[in-house]
Amino acid sequence: MTTSTLMFDPFSDDFFNGPYATYARMRDESPVYYSPDYDFYALTRHADVAAAFKDHETFSSARGVDLSMVRAMIAAGENPSPQMIIYMDPPDHRQMRSLVNKVFTPRAIQSLTHMVTEQIELHLPEDTDHFDAVQDFSALFPVEVITRMMGVDVSQAQQVRHWIDRSLHRAPGQIDMDEDGIQAGIEIGMWCYDLVQQRRDSPKDDMISRLIAAEILGDDGLPRRLDDIEITGFAALLGGAGAETVTKLIGSAVVLFAKNPEQWQKLLDDRSKVPLAVEELLRYEAPAQYNVRCSTRDVTLHGVTIPAEKPVFLVGGSANRDPRAWTDPDRFDIDRDHTEAQNLGFGYGIHSCLGAALARMESAVALNRLLDIMPRYEIDWDHCRRVSMQNVAGWHNVPVRVLR
Ligand code: HEM
Repeated sequence: MTTSTLMFDPFSDDFFNGPYATYARMRDESPVYYSPDYDFYALTRHADVAAAFKDHETFSSARGVDLSMVRAMIAAGENPSPQMIIYMDPPDHRQMRSLVNKVFTPRAIQSLTHMVTEQIELHLPEDTDHFDAVQDFSALFPVEVITRMMGVDVSQAQQVRHWIDRSLHRAPGQIDMDEDGIQAGIEIGMWCYDLVQQRRDSPKDDMISRLIAAEILGDDGLPRRLDDIEITGFAALLGGAGAETVTKLIGSAVVLFAKNPEQWQKLLDDRSKVPLAVEELLRYEAPAQYNVRCSTRDVTLHGVTIPAEKPVFLVGGSANRDPRAWTDPDRFDIDRDHTEAQNLGFGYGIHSCLGAALARMESAVALNRLLDIMPRYEIDWDHCRRVSMQNVAGWHNVPVRVLR
């Protein structure tokens, strides 16, 4: 029997190294977990996390979606600025989402397959016998894809990725950005702002130009244009979301398939299963492990009252491993029945991932190419290293040797 104190610390090595044992205890022993150290609550059971994602009136995004920001905004009694889509509640969220939805529909994304495939080809590792599946491959192409969609100066794409990495980095025990992270955040902001100015001067057929031209209803009910700061915020969010997550999904894929070679063999035998593999990867090792909300009222669940104005972690990474929702959830199985429960890897409800169709397509193309270039491989486990980042989980290094 486990008697140790249950502790969930999203800024600890336990979290960075895969907190699945901790999640299991939280679901069983403390489904509404309270962290006395950080003064937040966490929901980990599938039914609770899914319901909270849907209930944006009780679990608001308006104070931000990471602990550092939600705490700071609660203390200041303010909402973050710039107002990004991910920090909006309805009705603002609905308006903003309808502006950008068109660019991300499965059909619109389908038309980008050629560009995505080209970027993946261009960023295949040079040495196909030994390479780092993250640093020499999966870190490189997603940012090239998203910067091309945005219509920005692509020569700086890799620089954008380094800025974002620095702004998300957290050492154990570190909740807020350090000086280096803040500096990187400023540089991303300035770069995006500059881009908005360029497109105002000479519009093109790209996402930023469309946002500049678009109108939304203002607080006074009259149509208005988005301002520079709003568009800058959106560009920075897309850069971050587009650059980080697929990188993590593919890095985790290489690790998980090495541990489950029979699943890799299934894909080698039948490539039509690749999209199923992407869904299972999202479920099993979600690149976005949690999203934070702020409670807007006292809410009682499982006998625990979460007071109003508290940060609440919605831990999708745990919900996706909940045996109350999934059969044998700790088994990595690309053939599993995905209709059993809602996969929360892309979130759920009004904020569910805008880039889901793009992420699925990019990941499928990338996995297919890996199947071509490394049908049999082994990992240099001693030199694998995880990222330590806010919200995001995955690998920084996954050195691979291809077996001939
Ligand atoms: C495997 C890849 C990805 C994963 C796991 C992922 C995960 C998520 C999750 C969990 C959310 C919900 C956030 C919340 O509820 O607070 C989200 C939202 C979002 N994602 Fe993704 N994402 C991925 C790829 C992408 C890509 C490629 C893009 C960009 C093109 C993108 C853009 C966004 C945006 C803009 C939102 C905010 C939507 C809103 O607030 O309405 N994501 N994503």
